Amino acid sequence: MTRPTTPTVSNVDIFTQAYKRRTFAVISHPDAGKSTLTEALLLHAHAIDRAGAVHGKAGRRGTVSDWMAMEQARGISVTSAAIQFEYRDTMINLVDTPGHADFSEDTFRVLSAVDAAVMLVDASKGLEPQTMKLFEVCRQHGLPVITVINKWDRPGKSALDLMDEIQDRTGLVPTPLTWPVGFAGEFHGVLDRQSPGFVRFTRTPGGATAAIEARTTATAATAELGQDWTNAAEESALLHAEGHDHDEALFLRATTTPVLFCAAVLNFGVHQLLDALVEFAPPALARADITGRQRPVNGDFSGFVFKVQSGMNASHRDHVAFVRVCSGMFHRGMVLTQASTGRPFATKYAQQMFGRERTMAEQAWPGDIVGLINAASLRVGDSLYDSEPVEYPPLPVFAPEYFRALSPADTSKHKQFRRGIDQLDHEGVIQVMRSDLRGDQAPVLGAVGPMQFDVVEERMTHDFGAGIRMETLPYQIARRTDRASAGRLDSLRQVEVLTRSDDTLLALFSTPWRFQAVAREFPDIVLENLSPSV
Ligand code: G4P
Repeated sequence: MTRPTTPTVSNVDIFTQAYKRRTFAVISHPDAGKSTLTEALLLHAHAIDRAGAVHGKAGRRGTVSDWMAMEQARGISVTSAAIQFEYRDTMINLVDTPGHADFSEDTFRVLSAVDAAVMLVDASKGLEPQTMKLFEVCRQHGLPVITVINKWDRPGKSALDLMDEIQDRTGLVPTPLTWPVGFAGEFHGVLDRQSPGFVRFTRTPGGATAAIEARTTATAATAELGQDWTNAAEESALLHAEGHDHDEALFLRATTTPVLFCAAVLNFGVHQLLDALVEFAPPALARADITGRQRPVNGDFSGFVFKVQSGMNASHRDHVAFVRVCSGMFHRGMVLTQASTGRPFATKYAQQMFGRERTMAEQAWPGDIVGLINAASLRVGDSLYDSEPVEYPPLPVFAPEYFRALSPADTSKHKQFRRGIDQLDHEGVIQVMRSDLRGDQAPVLGAVGPMQFDVVEERMTHDFGAGIRMETLPYQIARRTDRASAGRLDSLRQVEVLTRSDDTLLALFSTPWRFQAVAREFPDIVLENLSPSV
């Protein structure tokens, strides 16, 4: 294949573009307001006109991503891995994460493709179980996190108590950028701790358009709000005295977390979040490859696939591989090399979501997300490069906790069955395991959350025309083992050894107690934790 010539682009151009990028994801425990905030961000950046499309949980149940729900509600096409929009001369790449905890493996992969995370916390609930898990994932990735306390328009915990909770439970030092004026449920506005003053928020009907903001001085705020302002100013001074001020270096090292207060449903505090992303979140920077060597952003093109999706366009079954650009310039038509196979991959069709429009991606820069079309040969975790070889670290696979034995509902459809399972495995929708004993046509599926099985059922039936039967297997725990141990484990009660499609040998145990008993009785048998353990 002949390689088209690369448009001339200097190292300085690439560096300038990388420096303009902010690539982040919004993450939270379900119901904290992730989709509401996402909409509000798009509204503020004029990527959409009106908020309020995502109403009620009922219509969203079963949707894999919140954007898919938005698409259904609006009847427009937004389903994509990332939306790009411009704000204050900065290119913001907002990368979607699934709303439900059952898809936490996807969330983990997305977090490997972003440079920062916005953690949303419900003011009345504080840190919830999924919030804690996600903070842990960010810690493992070394990701800087901006924390947003949401729903300040409703009664909730005190702001100082929430700061204590963040510090005590996550170890991150909270450094509020804004401080609420008025307790939770009585949200007048925020004290700006970066450029001192009061920002008053005024409701617009239904919060459907950007909230009205007015900035006044401390003196004017005292006259207007009396004790509420004095309280906020005193608390802010206390935070300063105890060292809770923003420090850019500590934030980038993921030691501190800047905090903002908002009411996403009213669009209060959203503009401050966008400003914080522009001013403090890191741009696209050099990234370590599998050997630990840093690949500079202004080098030759490279990127990796963090998500594969098919059937996004109902009229023709396409496979889209979403690539995070790590270095260099991407231009459509490039012929890249797939690091895992050494095979060429022609990027004839590539797409991006810019504001409301799905556009052909003619060019992309470090930090951007590009959807490569007709990408059936690409797998989640694959690295791609132009001429200078690079392989990025593999994306970790979670320890499955739910297991189903799978078989075709109609044995004459075994070809469709096989194709479907292979494709879903490729996309990272589910883990596929097999054993000689069960046979090739009877794989076992492993999931992190049971809703993944619903996606498999839906996709197998509708995308591949292969109805399936699933039988729940009584296993709860999986550990990595080796060939020598496998034979011995297979002869034990309530234990089964299977080979996952990445060639990892997994020993499945019926209960944690059974696992502990086996580990105690046979200390020489290899039983390793599967990473990441969150
Ligand atoms: P999620 O994606 O994190 O799961 O949360 P989502 O945005 O769906 O928000 C969950 C609920 O919280 C929604 O209410 C939403 O309206 C509400 N919410 C989000 N942000 C705020 C806020 O700043 N203040 C208040 N008071 N509520 C907020 P719902 O009852 O589930 O749906 P709806 O009928 O109100 O849309």
